[in-house]
Amino acid sequence: MPDTLQSELETYERRTPASRAAHEKAAARLPLGVASNYRSYQPYPLHVRDANGSRIRDIDGNEYIDFNMCFGALMAGHCHPAVMHAVAAKLKTGTMFGMPHDAENALAEEICARFPVEMVRFSNSGTECTMHAMRLARAATGRERVIKMEGGYHGLHDSVLVSVKPKANEVGDPDRPTSVPGGEGITKATLGNTLIAQFNDLPAIERLFAAYPGEIAAVIVEPILMNVGILMPDPGYHQGLREITKKHGALLIFDEVKTGAKLARGGACEYFGIEPDIICLAKSIGGGFSLAAFASKRSIMNLISDHRVFHGGTYNTNPVAMAAGLATLREVLTPAAYERVNRLNTKLVDGYKEQIEKTGLEAYVVGAGSNGSLMFAPKPIHNYRDWLNIDSESWRHYWFAMTNRGVIPQPYWWDEQWTVSVAHTEADIDKHLELFAEIAPAVAAGQRERRGRSGAPGGATKPAGPPAGSRSQPAPAAR
Ligand SMILES: Cc1ncc(COP(=O)(O)O)c(C=O)c1O
Repeated sequence: MPDTLQSELETYERRTPASRAAHEKAAARLPLGVASNYRSYQPYPLHVRDANGSRIRDIDGNEYIDFNMCFGALMAGHCHPAVMHAVAAKLKTGTMFGMPHDAENALAEEICARFPVEMVRFSNSGTECTMHAMRLARAATGRERVIKMEGGYHGLHDSVLVSVKPKANEVGDPDRPTSVPGGEGITKATLGNTLIAQFNDLPAIERLFAAYPGEIAAVIVEPILMNVGILMPDPGYHQGLREITKKHGALLIFDEVKTGAKLARGGACEYFGIEPDIICLAKSIGGGFSLAAFASKRSIMNLISDHRVFHGGTYNTNPVAMAAGLATLREVLTPAAYERVNRLNTKLVDGYKEQIEKTGLEAYVVGAGSNGSLMFAPKPIHNYRDWLNIDSESWRHYWFAMTNRGVIPQPYWWDEQWTVSVAHTEADIDKHLELFAEIAPAVAAGQRERRGRSGAPGGATKPAGPPAGSRSQPAPAAR
């Protein structure tokens, strides 16, 4: 009798009683018991004791090889020695100045050397960066509307918390998707200014420009849609976006929060050979510290220099985060590191492919740079609506089975992806693949059994979809 999802859930609870107790206690003071909704899942999330390199330990003392890597923010791995050393040295000389210091220009130079940009401003989170990028675009064009992709994620400010995870009955006409607010509290005015197109649909972008002539300031896009596992752009998609935005006098914003440090040295700009107008960076550029940046050409950033667009922030360029960023870009994310990580990721992806073929799992695997994702769909998805049919029951089986055996294969939720960091070793990849080979037959058997019962791909019942707002949401009881 193979292990089932139910038996894996029981094992999870048996192995992690301290996490359960900590979660119950936390829930009294923190909504959902967590500090960010994305960390919440059922029956309860693992509570962490410590982490180092490629390993993370929960408070029950279980050790895991970590491929979650803080939702892709740790391509440097946990506590990379070069980063820790730079930070430790900096801690002795002050943690906050609120005044200029040398690291600012030095890090701006590093970013301009990697990306097709001329000036940089720093902040602390991806959310801040996309917010400032969009304000800049509005100021640069004198227009108010923006286009974002259905299922795309750009953080938590009002203009982009739209059609992030709309339900199937909310999405509307595929040629002219409805703008669906990502929860309550977003004004109708803001919602009206965020126009939605499906990813990989260039004619839809043309139609929106035709419908709102002279009104659209920018198109914002994740170069690879990583809010639905991994969804690659069609060949020519970004070139098309570039041409259309240029033709209509609008800006193209690449949200490289996930791709910037992890896809290539010059992020998606290099990977796809595109020069967007504004880029947004965060997550892995900080090597484990809160660091983000938005950057563009001089003519656009001069809107800030000319006091036409305001940007500020108490924590911006705090010397600790800047030291971490400098060490990360100069010493950790080197060309050799990209080469090594890409090789390890290719090995992981190829190993998954082999098991999928062997077990008949109805799934496919995608890799890009240091990212990868096991997609529980019969054929590659092409847009967000395809992703709505992901076999999330089999995904949960996979995730709990791997985690119970000591490999966290990616962040919880089937819209995420794994990160191979510079800290992962060949042995870590081998262990990951060994466990996948161990559990894949049972996941495939469970999938076949559910399919047999229902006739539906992967089985009849999907755990309920996410609520209107969030990128990934908790299980039914919490909805
Ligand atoms: C593509 C993208 N943009 C923006 C953000 C928001 O970044 P942060 O969580 O740092 O605000 C995220 C976070 O996952 C992201 O994946």
